[in-house]
Amino acid sequence: MKKEDDMAKQDTSRPARAAGAPDPSRRSLLRGTLAAGGAVAAGLMAGRARAAAPVTSVTPDPLITEVQDWNRYLGGGVDTAPYGLPSEFEADVVRRNVAWLTADTTSSINFTPLHALDGIITPNGVCFERHHGGAAEIDPAQHRLMIHGLVDKPLVFTMADLMRFPRVNRVFFLECAANSGMEWRGSQLNGCQFTHGMIHNVMYTGVPLRLLLEEAGVKPSGKWILAEGADASGMTRSIPLEKALDDCLVAFKMNGEALRAEQGYPVRLVVPGWEGNMWVKWLRRLEVGDKPWQQREETSKYTDLLPTGKARRFTWMMDVKSVITNPSPQAPLSHGKGRTVVTGLAWSGAGTIKRVDVTLDGGRNWHAARIDGPSLDKSLHRFYYEFDWDGSELLLQSRAMDEMGYVQPTKNALRTSRGENSIYHNNGIQTWRVQADGVTENVEVS
Ligand code: MTE
Ligand code: CO
Repeated sequence: MKKEDDMAKQDTSRPARAAGAPDPSRRSLLRGTLAAGGAVAAGLMAGRARAAAPVTSVTPDPLITEVQDWNRYLGGGVDTAPYGLPSEFEADVVRRNVAWLTADTTSSINFTPLHALDGIITPNGVCFERHHGGAAEIDPAQHRLMIHGLVDKPLVFTMADLMRFPRVNRVFFLECAANSGMEWRGSQLNGCQFTHGMIHNVMYTGVPLRLLLEEAGVKPSGKWILAEGADASGMTRSIPLEKALDDCLVAFKMNGEALRAEQGYPVRLVVPGWEGNMWVKWLRRLEVGDKPWQQREETSKYTDLLPTGKARRFTWMMDVKSVITNPSPQAPLSHGKGRTVVTGLAWSGAGTIKRVDVTLDGGRNWHAARIDGPSLDKSLHRFYYEFDWDGSELLLQSRAMDEMGYVQPTKNALRTSRGENSIYHNNGIQTWRVQADGVTENVEVS
């Protein structure tokens, strides 16, 4: 299995592009190249105030005037799918991996198809997966969770024991620290599924970790928690007690049903707003200690090597970030000019999103996007920007600001402050270039 260090790798064969999309060769466009084009004008004229051209047709259409087969014959029975699946016409909306990223045929990372989703909730079947030792299959009757270390009363919980504590429902995003890691040195992957798809956002049902720690009784010297998984990777991370007592959950349900095996069934840790790596799946052990354990996953991995040779450590929070999901390379602007909807996602480990701006011309002019749907703490937010496309080339970007006032940086600003050795915590602004024919590709502006 490959590790997330490989996220810094550059593709040489480039096999991961979407069907029908152009070759995603690295491209650095000068903003000036667009200045003479019509995109700037499109940006200035855009706006909800202006009446958009009609999108409907008055030509007689047999699909509405004639009786169709599905209208004429009896449909399928209710017993054909005891567990429902999406329509066969949605067969493309699946998790995908990047072939050159993993050496094994069985990938240890796949990506959420963000370009095809809407709203803020990620359906369970398409939540990206990241396993360091494969996905464990655990019988809940055989699963145990232990709390020990600096506690008054070491405890071992069965799943049935956990169900007897008060539980809560919370929506949170989980973003792998390595999300967008392959884009540090330049635009590379042709699709937001691959550039930004190591994220999902679901409603968890679980017990506040605080209640379980209170049951065991944390000694005054207890300042840190070590969380350990029951899978072959034995994933372990140190978490400050303050965070553990604040909003962490020991969760057993996602979107109302049991966790999927690949998401840590029967129980996982939820560490809102912080690196996905800390959200230990198949959670089996919580040790209370007085200092961090300096595990592999917080020393040689999940640290950010700076140009000075020093590394940033314990960079837990996932900073404010956004991406336009549609149009994007896997979802080109196929309808031609006129009424156009741009949509995307924004999130921040620091809280809610207060504002998202969209540019059509690589950052010359910005327009306020419309955030729609619930605005929840440390959750994905959905935004839209509607405008009249004049059919000329676009350089689309989104830029989010969170409730703390943090603004998403450009990729160049990030490189200036952190160098190019980093893998993790790339929250830079993403650019999609939309050609006149609607074909969309991953580029950078300078
Ligand atoms: N927990 C265990 N036990 N084993 C793992 O390999 N991977 C971590 C984290 N928790 C991992 C784990 C990483 S790096 C991430 S990004 C998230 O789980 C991924 O969660 P997901 O598979 O639900 O998307
Ligand atoms: Co990860």
